[in-house]
Amino acid sequence: MTEFKTLRGMRDLLPDDAELMIYVQETARKIAKLYGYKEIITPVVESYELLATKAGDEVKSRMFTFKDLGGRDVALRPEFTPSVARLVATSMRNEPKPFRIFCMGSAYRYDEPQRGRYREFWQSDFELVGTFRPEADAEILTLTDSLFQKVGLRKFGLKVGHVGILRGILGKEKVKEKDQNAIMQLMDKKQYDDAVKLVEDACVSKKCVEAVRELIECKGKDIVDVLNRIRELVKNYENSVAAVENLRTILELVNNSGYKIDLTVDAGFARGLEYYTGMVFEIFVPDLDIALGGGGRYDKLVELFGGEPTPAVGVAHGMDRITLAMGTQKIDFKAKKERTIIVVPIKEELKTEALKIARLLRDADMLVEVEVMGRKMTKALEDADRRKTDYAIIVGERELKEGSVVLRDLSKRDQRIVPIEKLVDEIKR
Ligand code: HAM
Repeated sequence: MTEFKTLRGMRDLLPDDAELMIYVQETARKIAKLYGYKEIITPVVESYELLATKAGDEVKSRMFTFKDLGGRDVALRPEFTPSVARLVATSMRNEPKPFRIFCMGSAYRYDEPQRGRYREFWQSDFELVGTFRPEADAEILTLTDSLFQKVGLRKFGLKVGHVGILRGILGKEKVKEKDQNAIMQLMDKKQYDDAVKLVEDACVSKKCVEAVRELIECKGKDIVDVLNRIRELVKNYENSVAAVENLRTILELVNNSGYKIDLTVDAGFARGLEYYTGMVFEIFVPDLDIALGGGGRYDKLVELFGGEPTPAVGVAHGMDRITLAMGTQKIDFKAKKERTIIVVPIKEELKTEALKIARLLRDADMLVEVEVMGRKMTKALEDADRRKTDYAIIVGERELKEGSVVLRDLSKRDQRIVPIEKLVDEIKR
Protein backbone atom coordinates (compact mmCIF):
# COMPACT_ATOMS: atom_id res chain seq x y z
CA MET A 1 0.00 0.00 0.00
CA THR A 2 1.36 3.42 -0.90
CA GLU A 3 2.23 5.67 2.02
CA PHE A 4 0.61 8.98 1.18
CA LYS A 5 2.50 12.18 1.97
CA THR A 6 1.73 15.84 1.45
CA LEU A 7 2.97 17.21 -1.86
CA ARG A 8 6.33 18.99 -1.84
CA GLY A 9 5.97 22.49 -0.41
CA MET A 10 2.55 21.72 1.12
CA ARG A 11 2.16 21.22 4.87
CA ASP A 12 -0.25 19.82 7.41
CA LEU A 13 -0.55 22.08 10.42
CA LEU A 14 -1.05 19.85 13.46
CA PRO A 15 -2.85 21.28 16.53
CA ASP A 16 0.05 23.32 18.03
CA ASP A 17 1.07 24.84 14.70
CA ALA A 18 -2.55 25.34 13.68
CA GLU A 19 -3.25 27.11 16.98
CA LEU A 20 -0.40 29.54 16.39
CA MET A 21 -1.49 30.13 12.78
CA ILE A 22 -5.07 30.81 13.87
CA TYR A 23 -3.85 33.19 16.56
CA VAL A 24 -1.95 35.22 13.94
CA GLN A 25 -4.96 35.17 11.62
CA GLU A 26 -7.30 36.30 14.36
CA THR A 27 -4.89 39.10 15.24
CA ALA A 28 -4.90 40.24 11.59
CA ARG A 29 -8.72 40.19 11.70
CA LYS A 30 -8.65 42.34 14.83
CA ILE A 31 -6.36 44.86 13.13
CA ALA A 32 -8.72 44.90 10.12
CA LYS A 33 -11.58 45.80 12.47
CA LEU A 34 -9.56 48.43 14.32
CA TYR A 35 -8.71 50.17 11.03
CA GLY A 36 -12.15 49.75 9.43
CA TYR A 37 -11.31 47.12 6.78
CA LYS A 38 -14.31 44.96 5.79
CA GLU A 39 -13.58 41.30 5.19
CA ILE A 40 -14.51 39.71 1.88
CA ILE A 41 -14.03 36.18 0.55
CA THR A 42 -12.87 35.57 -3.02
CA PRO A 43 -12.31 32.30 -4.95
CA VAL A 44 -9.09 30.32 -4.75
CA VAL A 45 -9.36 29.59 -8.50
CA GLU A 46 -9.46 32.54 -10.88
CA SER A 47 -8.94 33.08 -14.60
CA TYR A 48 -5.28 32.74 -15.53
CA GLU A 49 -5.42 35.97 -17.49
CA LEU A 50 -6.65 37.96 -14.49
CA LEU A 51 -3.89 36.64 -12.24
CA ALA A 52 -1.13 36.82 -14.85
CA THR A 53 -1.75 40.25 -16.39
CA LYS A 54 0.46 42.26 -14.04
CA ALA A 55 2.01 39.55 -11.91
CA GLY A 56 5.49 39.97 -13.39
CA ASP A 57 7.59 37.14 -14.87
CA GLU A 58 8.68 35.67 -11.54
CA VAL A 59 5.22 35.14 -9.99
CA LYS A 60 3.73 34.26 -13.40
CA SER A 61 6.24 31.45 -13.91
CA ARG A 62 5.36 30.00 -10.51
CA MET A 63 1.60 29.88 -10.77
CA PHE A 64 -0.33 26.61 -10.48
CA THR A 65 -2.11 26.79 -13.84
CA PHE A 66 -4.36 24.27 -15.50
CA LYS A 67 -7.30 23.89 -17.84
CA ASP A 68 -10.59 23.20 -16.11
CA LEU A 69 -13.00 20.62 -17.55
CA GLY A 70 -14.62 23.40 -19.58
CA GLY A 71 -11.29 24.06 -21.31
CA ARG A 72 -10.74 27.43 -19.58
CA ASP A 73 -7.24 28.52 -18.55
CA VAL A 74 -7.40 28.94 -14.79
CA ALA A 75 -4.95 29.15 -11.89
CA LEU A 76 -4.77 28.96 -8.12
CA ARG A 77 -4.42 32.50 -6.76
CA PRO A 78 -0.79 33.42 -6.00
CA GLU A 79 -2.08 36.55 -4.15
CA PHE A 80 -5.30 38.51 -3.55
CA THR A 81 -4.73 41.89 -5.20
CA PRO A 82 -5.96 40.93 -8.73
CA SER A 83 -9.18 39.48 -7.25
CA VAL A 84 -9.78 42.69 -5.30
CA ALA A 85 -9.04 44.83 -8.38
CA ARG A 86 -11.48 42.66 -10.38
CA LEU A 87 -14.19 43.35 -7.80
CA VAL A 88 -13.44 47.07 -7.74
CA ALA A 89 -13.77 47.10 -11.55
CA THR A 90 -17.07 45.15 -11.48
CA SER A 91 -19.45 44.47 -8.56
CA MET A 92 -17.95 47.08 -6.24
CA ARG A 93 -17.71 49.72 -8.98
CA ASN A 94 -20.35 51.94 -7.41
CA GLU A 95 -19.12 51.64 -3.84
CA PRO A 96 -18.50 55.11 -2.39
CA LYS A 97 -14.75 55.79 -2.18
CA PRO A 98 -12.61 55.33 -0.26
CA PHE A 99 -13.28 51.80 0.94
CA ARG A 100 -11.16 49.38 2.83
CA ILE A 101 -11.05 45.67 2.06
CA PHE A 102 -9.53 42.80 3.97
CA CYS A 103 -9.09 39.19 2.74
CA MET A 104 -7.42 36.23 4.31
CA GLY A 105 -6.74 32.79 2.96
CA SER A 106 -4.29 30.47 1.31
CA ALA A 107 -2.30 31.39 -1.79
CA TYR A 108 -0.23 29.18 -4.08
CA ARG A 109 3.15 29.61 -5.76
CA TYR A 110 5.40 26.88 -7.13
CA ASP A 111 8.39 28.30 -5.24
CA GLU A 112 11.42 26.18 -4.34
CA PRO A 113 10.50 25.00 -0.82
CA GLN A 114 12.77 26.07 2.06
CA ARG A 115 12.37 27.53 5.54
CA GLY A 116 9.50 30.02 5.28
CA ARG A 117 8.93 29.36 1.59
CA TYR A 118 6.10 27.02 0.75
CA ARG A 119 3.88 26.23 -2.21
CA GLU A 120 0.76 26.81 -0.15
CA PHE A 121 0.93 29.70 2.29
CA TRP A 122 -1.40 32.13 4.01
CA GLN A 123 -1.75 35.85 3.53
CA SER A 124 -3.74 38.59 5.26
CA ASP A 125 -4.37 41.20 2.63
CA PHE A 126 -5.43 44.82 3.19
CA GLU A 127 -6.43 47.10 0.30
CA LEU A 128 -7.34 50.78 0.63
CA VAL A 129 -9.17 51.77 -2.54
CA GLY A 130 -10.05 55.11 -4.08
CA THR A 131 -7.48 57.67 -2.97
CA PHE A 132 -4.17 59.03 -4.26
CA ARG A 133 -3.37 60.73 -1.01
CA PRO A 134 -0.24 59.94 1.01
CA GLU A 135 -2.33 59.43 4.18
CA ALA A 136 -3.52 56.18 2.59
CA ASP A 137 0.03 54.93 1.98
CA ALA A 138 0.91 55.92 5.54
CA GLU A 139 -2.09 53.97 6.86
CA ILE A 140 -0.94 50.79 5.11
CA LEU A 141 2.49 51.17 6.75
CA THR A 142 1.07 51.88 10.20
CA LEU A 143 -1.46 49.05 10.16
CA THR A 144 1.39 46.71 9.26
CA ASP A 145 3.29 48.03 12.26
CA SER A 146 0.18 47.51 14.43
CA LEU A 147 -0.16 43.88 13.33
CA PHE A 148 3.48 43.06 14.03
CA GLN A 149 3.34 44.79 17.42
CA LYS A 150 0.11 43.04 18.33
CA VAL A 151 1.45 39.51 17.67
CA GLY A 152 4.36 40.46 19.92
CA LEU A 153 7.17 40.89 17.36
CA ARG A 154 9.38 43.68 18.61
CA LYS A 155 12.35 43.38 16.30
CA PHE A 156 11.24 44.14 12.77
CA GLY A 157 11.89 46.79 10.16
CA LEU A 158 10.39 48.13 6.96
CA LYS A 159 12.35 48.62 3.76
CA VAL A 160 10.69 51.33 1.70
CA GLY A 161 11.17 52.57 -1.85
CA HIS A 162 9.18 54.16 -4.66
CA VAL A 163 8.98 52.70 -8.16
CA GLY A 164 8.39 56.19 -9.53
CA ILE A 165 12.01 57.13 -8.84
CA LEU A 166 13.51 54.68 -11.32
CA ARG A 167 10.58 54.68 -13.72
CA GLY A 168 10.74 58.49 -13.79
CA ILE A 169 14.27 58.28 -15.16
CA LEU A 170 13.64 55.39 -17.57
CA GLY A 171 10.42 56.96 -18.84
CA LYS A 172 12.10 60.28 -19.63
CA GLU A 173 14.90 58.40 -21.39
CA LYS A 174 12.18 56.70 -23.51
CA VAL A 175 13.00 53.18 -22.32
CA LYS A 176 10.10 50.94 -23.45
CA GLU A 177 7.69 49.72 -20.77
CA LYS A 178 8.67 46.09 -21.48
CA ASP A 179 12.36 46.88 -20.89
CA GLN A 180 11.53 48.94 -17.79
CA ASN A 181 9.69 45.90 -16.38
CA ALA A 182 12.65 43.64 -17.12
CA ILE A 183 14.98 46.11 -15.36
CA MET A 184 12.68 46.26 -12.31
CA GLN A 185 12.50 42.44 -12.18
CA LEU A 186 16.31 42.24 -12.07
CA MET A 187 16.44 44.92 -9.38
CA ASP A 188 13.90 42.91 -7.36
CA LYS A 189 16.22 39.90 -7.57
CA LYS A 190 19.15 42.13 -6.58
CA GLN A 191 20.89 41.37 -9.88
CA TYR A 192 22.02 44.97 -10.06
CA ASP A 193 24.85 44.51 -12.58
CA ASP A 194 22.48 42.84 -15.02
CA ALA A 195 19.93 45.57 -14.41
CA VAL A 196 22.49 48.31 -15.17
CA LYS A 197 23.56 46.39 -18.28
CA LEU A 198 19.95 46.40 -19.50
CA VAL A 199 19.76 50.15 -18.84
CA GLU A 200 22.89 50.62 -20.97
CA ASP A 201 21.49 48.35 -23.72
CA ALA A 202 18.37 50.50 -23.85
CA CYS A 203 20.61 53.20 -25.41
CA VAL A 204 20.08 55.79 -22.70
CA SER A 205 22.40 58.69 -21.94
CA LYS A 206 25.64 58.12 -19.95
CA LYS A 207 24.25 60.50 -17.35
CA CYS A 208 21.23 58.27 -16.89
CA VAL A 209 23.27 55.06 -16.50
CA GLU A 210 25.39 56.83 -13.89
CA ALA A 211 22.31 58.03 -12.00
CA VAL A 212 20.86 54.49 -11.92
CA ARG A 213 24.18 53.09 -10.71
CA GLU A 214 24.38 55.63 -7.88
CA LEU A 215 20.71 55.20 -6.96
CA ILE A 216 21.31 51.51 -6.32
CA GLU A 217 23.83 52.49 -3.64
CA CYS A 218 21.52 55.08 -2.11
CA LYS A 219 19.95 53.66 1.03
CA GLY A 220 19.89 54.17 4.78
CA LYS A 221 17.95 54.85 7.94
CA ASP A 222 18.52 58.60 8.07
CA ILE A 223 15.45 59.29 6.01
CA VAL A 224 15.94 63.01 5.42
CA ASP A 225 19.55 62.50 4.36
CA VAL A 226 18.80 59.57 2.01
CA LEU A 227 15.84 61.32 0.40
CA ASN A 228 17.93 64.47 -0.13
CA ARG A 229 20.69 62.42 -1.74
CA ILE A 230 18.19 60.67 -4.03
CA ARG A 231 16.60 63.97 -4.96
CA GLU A 232 19.98 65.40 -5.93
CA LEU A 233 20.70 62.35 -8.13
CA VAL A 234 17.39 62.59 -10.00
CA LYS A 235 17.06 66.38 -10.12
CA ASN A 236 16.84 66.40 -13.95
CA TYR A 237 13.92 63.98 -14.00
CA GLU A 238 10.78 65.78 -12.80
CA ASN A 239 8.65 62.61 -12.31
CA SER A 240 11.39 61.08 -10.18
CA VAL A 241 11.60 64.26 -8.09
CA ALA A 242 7.82 64.08 -7.56
CA ALA A 243 8.21 60.43 -6.47
CA VAL A 244 10.90 61.36 -3.92
CA GLU A 245 8.70 64.12 -2.50
CA ASN A 246 5.70 61.78 -2.35
CA LEU A 247 7.78 59.27 -0.39
CA ARG A 248 9.02 62.06 1.90
CA THR A 249 5.42 63.11 2.70
CA ILE A 250 4.34 59.51 3.41
CA LEU A 251 7.25 58.83 5.74
CA GLU A 252 6.87 62.18 7.53
CA LEU A 253 3.21 61.34 8.17
CA VAL A 254 4.21 57.98 9.65
CA ASN A 255 6.99 59.40 11.82
CA ASN A 256 5.06 62.44 13.00
CA SER A 257 1.99 60.48 14.03
CA GLY A 258 3.72 58.73 16.89
CA TYR A 259 4.52 55.38 15.26
CA LYS A 260 8.08 54.35 15.97
CA ILE A 261 8.79 52.24 12.92
CA ASP A 262 12.30 51.12 12.04
CA LEU A 263 12.43 52.41 8.45
CA THR A 264 15.13 52.01 5.81
CA VAL A 265 14.79 53.92 2.57
CA ASP A 266 16.29 52.10 -0.42
CA ALA A 267 16.23 53.81 -3.82
CA GLY A 268 17.11 50.62 -5.70
CA PHE A 269 14.37 48.59 -4.06
CA ALA A 270 11.86 47.10 -6.51
CA ARG A 271 9.14 44.46 -6.21
CA GLY A 272 8.53 41.52 -8.54
CA LEU A 273 4.82 42.24 -9.01
CA GLU A 274 4.38 44.59 -11.93
CA TYR A 275 1.32 46.60 -10.96
CA TYR A 276 3.04 48.96 -8.55
CA THR A 277 3.09 52.64 -9.46
CA GLY A 278 4.25 54.36 -6.26
CA MET A 279 5.55 53.64 -2.77
CA VAL A 280 6.61 50.01 -2.23
CA PHE A 281 7.76 48.26 0.91
CA GLU A 282 8.64 44.96 2.57
CA ILE A 283 8.93 43.86 6.18
CA PHE A 284 11.94 42.04 7.62
CA VAL A 285 13.03 40.59 10.96
CA PRO A 286 16.69 40.15 11.98
CA ASP A 287 16.90 36.35 11.90
CA LEU A 288 15.14 35.64 8.60
CA ASP A 289 16.32 36.90 5.24
CA ILE A 290 12.89 36.59 3.63
CA ALA A 291 10.17 39.24 3.69
CA LEU A 292 7.31 38.81 6.17
CA GLY A 293 5.06 41.02 4.11
CA GLY A 294 5.07 43.43 1.23
CA GLY A 295 2.92 45.92 -0.55
CA GLY A 296 2.62 49.26 -2.20
CA ARG A 297 0.58 51.59 -4.36
CA TYR A 298 -1.03 50.45 -7.61
CA ASP A 299 -3.02 53.17 -9.33
CA LYS A 300 -3.59 51.57 -12.75
CA LEU A 301 -4.70 47.99 -12.12
CA VAL A 302 -8.45 48.59 -11.71
CA GLU A 303 -8.47 50.57 -14.96
CA LEU A 304 -6.61 47.75 -16.70
CA PHE A 305 -9.40 45.39 -15.64
CA GLY A 306 -12.00 47.64 -17.26
CA GLY A 307 -12.95 49.76 -14.24
CA GLU A 308 -12.87 53.52 -13.70
CA PRO A 309 -9.39 54.92 -13.02
CA THR A 310 -9.08 54.04 -9.31
CA PRO A 311 -5.99 54.60 -7.21
CA ALA A 312 -5.27 52.01 -4.52
CA VAL A 313 -2.64 50.94 -2.05
CA GLY A 314 -2.30 47.72 -0.08
CA VAL A 315 -0.24 45.10 1.68
CA ALA A 316 -0.16 41.34 2.17
CA HIS A 317 1.37 39.79 5.27
CA GLY A 318 2.83 36.28 5.11
CA MET A 319 1.10 34.51 8.00
CA ASP A 320 3.42 31.47 7.86
CA ARG A 321 6.52 33.64 8.07
CA ILE A 322 5.07 35.66 10.96
CA THR A 323 4.60 32.40 12.91
CA LEU A 324 8.21 31.45 12.14
CA ALA A 325 9.49 34.81 13.39
CA MET A 326 7.38 34.47 16.55
CA GLY A 327 9.16 31.16 17.13
CA THR A 328 12.64 32.65 16.71
CA GLN A 329 11.76 35.67 18.91
CA LYS A 330 10.33 33.22 21.50
CA ILE A 331 6.93 34.88 21.77
CA ASP A 332 4.55 33.09 24.10
CA PHE A 333 1.17 33.69 22.55
CA LYS A 334 -0.60 31.30 24.92
CA ALA A 335 -0.29 33.60 27.92
CA LYS A 336 -4.04 34.01 28.28
CA LYS A 337 -5.01 30.38 27.74
CA GLU A 338 -8.61 29.54 28.57
CA ARG A 339 -9.29 26.88 31.19
CA THR A 340 -10.27 23.42 29.97
CA ILE A 341 -12.61 20.92 31.59
CA ILE A 342 -13.34 17.23 31.22
CA VAL A 343 -16.59 15.69 32.43
CA VAL A 344 -16.27 12.05 33.50
CA PRO A 345 -19.30 9.91 34.46
CA ILE A 346 -18.39 7.34 37.09
CA LYS A 347 -20.51 4.71 35.40
CA GLU A 348 -22.23 3.95 32.13
CA GLU A 349 -25.73 4.95 33.35
CA LEU A 350 -24.58 8.49 34.16
CA LYS A 351 -23.56 9.30 30.56
CA THR A 352 -26.64 11.42 29.95
CA GLU A 353 -26.06 13.41 33.13
CA ALA A 354 -22.47 14.03 32.01
CA LEU A 355 -23.70 15.33 28.65
CA LYS A 356 -26.21 17.62 30.39
CA ILE A 357 -23.51 19.12 32.61
CA ALA A 358 -21.21 19.60 29.62
CA ARG A 359 -24.00 21.47 27.83
CA LEU A 360 -24.60 23.69 30.84
CA LEU A 361 -20.93 24.68 30.97
CA ARG A 362 -20.67 25.25 27.21
CA ASP A 363 -23.71 27.53 27.44
CA ALA A 364 -21.52 29.58 29.79
CA ASP A 365 -18.74 29.62 27.10
CA MET A 366 -16.54 27.08 28.83
CA LEU A 367 -14.23 24.67 27.00
CA VAL A 368 -15.55 21.22 27.81
CA GLU A 369 -14.79 17.69 26.70
CA VAL A 370 -16.71 14.60 27.74
CA GLU A 371 -15.18 11.18 28.38
CA VAL A 372 -16.09 9.10 25.32
CA MET A 373 -13.98 5.96 25.78
CA GLY A 374 -16.00 4.42 28.63
CA ARG A 375 -12.79 4.34 30.72
CA LYS A 376 -12.55 3.91 34.47
CA MET A 377 -12.23 7.23 36.28
CA THR A 378 -8.51 6.89 37.10
CA LYS A 379 -7.62 6.14 33.48
CA ALA A 380 -9.74 9.06 32.23
CA LEU A 381 -8.10 11.42 34.77
CA GLU A 382 -4.60 10.21 33.87
CA ASP A 383 -5.33 11.04 30.24
CA ALA A 384 -6.77 14.46 31.18
CA ASP A 385 -3.62 15.15 33.20
CA ARG A 386 -1.39 14.20 30.27
CA ARG A 387 -3.28 16.66 28.08
CA LYS A 388 -2.95 19.41 30.72
CA THR A 389 -6.69 19.76 31.28
CA ASP A 390 -7.40 22.18 34.15
CA TYR A 391 -10.50 20.67 35.77
CA ALA A 392 -12.32 17.36 35.88
CA ILE A 393 -15.96 17.13 36.83
CA ILE A 394 -16.71 13.71 38.19
CA VAL A 395 -20.34 12.73 37.93
CA GLY A 396 -21.19 10.18 40.62
CA GLU A 397 -24.50 8.78 41.85
CA ARG A 398 -24.12 9.82 45.47
CA GLU A 399 -23.37 13.52 44.77
CA LEU A 400 -25.92 13.66 41.98
CA LYS A 401 -28.69 12.72 44.41
CA GLU A 402 -27.84 15.97 46.24
CA GLY A 403 -27.77 17.93 42.95
CA SER A 404 -23.94 18.11 43.10
CA VAL A 405 -20.81 16.83 41.36
CA VAL A 406 -17.14 16.55 42.29
CA LEU A 407 -14.98 19.35 40.93
CA ARG A 408 -11.31 18.36 40.78
CA ASP A 409 -8.55 20.88 40.15
CA LEU A 410 -6.11 18.72 38.19
CA SER A 411 -3.04 20.92 38.67
CA LYS A 412 -3.53 21.42 42.43
CA ARG A 413 -4.81 17.85 42.81
CA ASP A 414 -7.56 18.82 45.24
CA GLN A 415 -11.28 18.31 44.91
CA ARG A 416 -14.54 19.38 46.46
CA ILE A 417 -18.25 18.77 46.07
CA VAL A 418 -20.04 21.60 44.26
CA PRO A 419 -23.79 22.04 43.62
CA ILE A 420 -24.41 21.90 39.85
CA GLU A 421 -26.05 25.35 39.79
CA LYS A 422 -22.89 26.88 41.32
CA LEU A 423 -20.46 25.04 39.02
CA VAL A 424 -20.00 27.84 36.50
CA ASP A 425 -19.31 30.49 39.19
CA GLU A 426 -17.02 28.14 41.05
CA ILE A 427 -14.84 27.44 37.98
CA LYS A 428 -14.78 31.09 36.87
CA ARG A 429 -13.78 32.20 40.37
P1 HAM B 1 4.13 39.58 -2.12
O1 HAM B 1 5.33 40.33 -1.65
O2 HAM B 1 4.28 38.79 -3.37
O3 HAM B 1 2.97 40.65 -2.27
O4 HAM B 1 3.64 38.60 -0.98
C1 HAM B 1 3.37 39.09 0.32
C2 HAM B 1 3.94 38.16 1.36
O5 HAM B 1 3.44 36.83 1.17
C3 HAM B 1 5.45 37.98 1.29
O6 HAM B 1 6.12 39.07 1.88
C4 HAM B 1 5.61 36.70 2.10
O7 HAM B 1 5.60 36.98 3.48
C5 HAM B 1 4.39 35.92 1.71
N1 HAM B 1 4.77 34.92 0.71
C6 HAM B 1 4.92 35.08 -0.61
N2 HAM B 1 5.31 33.91 -1.20
C7 HAM B 1 5.43 33.01 -0.21
C8 HAM B 1 5.80 31.61 -0.14
N3 HAM B 1 6.11 30.92 -1.24
N4 HAM B 1 5.82 31.01 1.06
C9 HAM B 1 5.47 31.68 2.18
N5 HAM B 1 5.10 32.98 2.19
C10 HAM B 1 5.09 33.64 1.02
C11 HAM B 1 1.69 40.34 -2.64
O8 HAM B 1 1.23 39.23 -2.64
C12 HAM B 1 0.86 41.55 -2.97
N6 HAM B 1 -0.46 41.10 -3.39
C13 HAM B 1 0.80 42.51 -1.80
C14 HAM B 1 -0.07 43.70 -2.07
C15 HAM B 1 -1.34 43.90 -1.65
N7 HAM B 1 0.29 44.76 -2.77
C16 HAM B 1 -0.71 45.62 -2.81
N8 HAM B 1 -1.73 45.09 -2.16
